[in-house]
Amino acid sequence: MPADRGPILVEGPVEVHLPDGTVRRSDRPVVALCACRRSRCYPFCDTSHRRRSAPAAGSDSARRIAQGGQ
Ligand code: FES
Repeated sequence: MPADRGPILVEGPVEVHLPDGTVRRSDRPVVALCACRRSRCYPFCDTSHRRRSAPAAGSDSARRIAQGGQ
């Protein structure tokens, strides 16, 4: 786990299989995977990790964190 809870950079293209059975694909040469679970385009980083505050209660990100999943 990155020390600053930033993204995990992996060489692309990648296919990410999520627990709900969906598959997300990126054809970029380098892909930033979200490790903070705040991204609005999870499992990919959208730079939401840069915000200092926790996601708002009731938001999609807060629900994902509370569920411990995607
Ligand atoms: S690591 Fe960047 S939004 Fe989660």
